[in-house]
Amino acid sequence: MSAAGDPRTERPPVTLPRIAEMKRSGKPIVMMTAYDYPSASVAEAAEVDVVLVGDTGAMTVLGYDSTVPVSMEEMLVLARAVRRGLRTPLMVGDLPFGSYEGANELAVESAQRYVKEAGCDAVKLERGGASVDRARAIIRAGIPVMGHVGLTPQTATQFGGYRAQGRTADRAIQIAEETLALQSVGCFAIVFEAVPAAVTAALADKLEVPVIGIGAGPSDGQVLVFHDLLGIYEGRLPRFVKRYAEVRRDMVAGVSRFADEVRARRFPQDEHTYGIDPEELERFRRYLDQESLATSAWDW
Ligand code: KIV
Repeated sequence: MSAAGDPRTERPPVTLPRIAEMKRSGKPIVMMTAYDYPSASVAEAAEVDVVLVGDTGAMTVLGYDSTVPVSMEEMLVLARAVRRGLRTPLMVGDLPFGSYEGANELAVESAQRYVKEAGCDAVKLERGGASVDRARAIIRAGIPVMGHVGLTPQTATQFGGYRAQGRTADRAIQIAEETLALQSVGCFAIVFEAVPAAVTAALADKLEVPVIGIGAGPSDGQVLVFHDLLGIYEGRLPRFVKRYAEVRRDMVAGVSRFADEVRARRFPQDEHTYGIDPEELERFRRYLDQESLATSAWDW
């Protein structure tokens, strides 16, 4: 790995053939979400393979209660910021709720906006059913598509809320059929969210495209939400999240120390301030001492 913190790494950009090769050779694919320049530059420095501008940004950075309200315009603002911080990982834009389900034309238009206006390499959409047609249309328009099955937060209420999926044979069959359909129209990878590990494992042999798991057990790759894995987000955590840092705790501690020092007048100190040549300062003081600068002149 190149020098920690250096966002300009030497490795070549991660391409779709590289992702397919990783699947063939059994090299795990590392994916994380990013929503802005700092998170993207962290992904770059840590040599992540795939960065998803996830619609989870609705909650983690925009403060919505779910992923449903976020608009395409808002996602594009996030994606452009991510693009500025990213050079080598494959960048995937998450199609938000309402930006693709209605019609193939809408889906292609939204996918094109991610590519043209934010420099995304690919897009992701949720579920099977009509989404399979949308994926086919987007791929025919020349834009790579990642699928997403299992727990699909944009329509979670339909399957009983934010809970594991595929825990009955019927639902596992449905997930398998959605996955195979997405694969058959050319999706280059499929996210499995909150699916029993045994279901993922049983399906693995039937799949040529990589499965990127999040709460789906061992698979070709793993994805976690940036704010979850670093401990920035405060909300309730699903069981599949592993915390690798406690960044929010450190941020609150840092800002509290800053506030304490300002209130106690311990900050700033000499090393944080700029000097002035004593003669220049003297001239300035003489200027302030002039009679004509009486404070009443400013009394308005
Ligand atoms: O939006 C998102 O962050 C996602 C991941 C959970 C895969 O879809």
